[in-house]
Amino acid sequence: MNYTVVRNKTYDYTGQSYASVYPNLHKYPATMLPQLGIDVLKEFAITKGALLDPYCGSGSSFMCGIECGLTTMAGFDINPLAALISKVKYTRLSLDEIEHVKHILQHTLVEFLNDEKRLHTIRIPTVTNIDFWFSKDVINKLAVLKQGIDAIENADIRNFFLLPFSETVRDCSYTRNGEFKLYRMKDEDAVNFNPDVISVYFKYVNDIASYYQTFYLPRLKKPLLIRIRNEAFQPKAETYDVVLTSPPYGDSRTTVAYGQFSTLSNEWLGIQYARKIDSMLMGGAKTSGIIPTGVIADYIYEIYRADKKRSLEVSSFYTDLGLSIQDVAKSVKKGGKILYIVGNRTVKNIQLPTDQFIAEQFEEHGFKHIITYKRALSNKSMPSKNSPTNKAGKTVQTMLYEYIVACEKVV
Ligand SMILES: C[S@@+](CC[C@H](N)C(=O)[O-])C[C@H]1O[C@@H](n2cnc3c(N)ncnc32)[C@H](O)[C@@H]1O
Repeated sequence: MNYTVVRNKTYDYTGQSYASVYPNLHKYPATMLPQLGIDVLKEFAITKGALLDPYCGSGSSFMCGIECGLTTMAGFDINPLAALISKVKYTRLSLDEIEHVKHILQHTLVEFLNDEKRLHTIRIPTVTNIDFWFSKDVINKLAVLKQGIDAIENADIRNFFLLPFSETVRDCSYTRNGEFKLYRMKDEDAVNFNPDVISVYFKYVNDIASYYQTFYLPRLKKPLLIRIRNEAFQPKAETYDVVLTSPPYGDSRTTVAYGQFSTLSNEWLGIQYARKIDSMLMGGAKTSGIIPTGVIADYIYEIYRADKKRSLEVSSFYTDLGLSIQDVAKSVKKGGKILYIVGNRTVKNIQLPTDQFIAEQFEEHGFKHIITYKRALSNKSMPSKNSPTNKAGKTVQTMLYEYIVACEKVV
């Protein structure tokens, strides 16, 4: 394969963040910069057809599609919280109904919280080590809130009210703020931590409603249709003209812990398998052998010589990514494009060429590589340091660049 990588400074967006142009409705790790996706779609003159994002996270790729005039899109993510965020963002909701439900909710909460007897009847959801992560007062108030939200009849409106609930769960828990992984704050900080759950919740309701009204709702015009599924992508009858996505950079345990970031929210949302999500994501399952062929093989062998276990973990990720690419490739129309935005992580001081692996996999499944752009990472939504040795505190500088891999389906 004649593989070309071009450093493209116009895609650096120095100093810009996600929030500066399209505020997210809910925090999510490693989001894609919508400005980048929009410009990439424009560069490849994609203005119509169906778009797929097989690992859609909080759904930034759909905003890119909308801004470029696309009206049919589909997204998949195994993480229920990710699917929920994407769904709410791209569902047309009545602002009047949101306002109306907000008032009812406020009213019923006040009544409930003032009624000692009813407070004792509240059902507390199953959350692992709940007392370790939340104070008694927070648990009771979150449970009352959840009961109120569950009573909302309209499922789309109910989903909307679950987003501020999920943010409140995180903010009112003893987790250390600003970290993706679940770490508890120090005991001395926990003692003085008395968040006002109800105020936090309604502040989020107002902020999210305002972002939704300003940035999302005006763009959700007919015939736009975006279907989001909380499952892994599987090829079906539908085919797509373009795939725009930012896949994970490695397994969740040692790169970005999507599952762990979402655990408390997912548990409060009633997801039984919340604690297992990281192991369900790409690279989460064990494999028995290292990848013997292809561009990634030599790199994995180098890791194997340093640490056999790590080489198996890394192999597991690339095996899953390869299988997923095979499925995606089947679902793209002839002449269709794939645009994958990815970082190359470092394991045992070896930087893995994930960009080239992606191009190679697509070439093996009927595609031709067009170009790969390299852009400097300047936004803060992605940690530039992680723990590739998997030892707490030992971090090395990892991805300073991100790659945009473009291929076209030729057969
Ligand atoms: C880099 S994030 C996507 C971020 C997204 N572009 C955004 O702006 O929010 C990668 C996503 O892949 C999801 N994921 C990992 N393995 C998956 C799989 N096998 N199938 C579907 N989604 C998966 C993770 O849950 C995560 O949300």
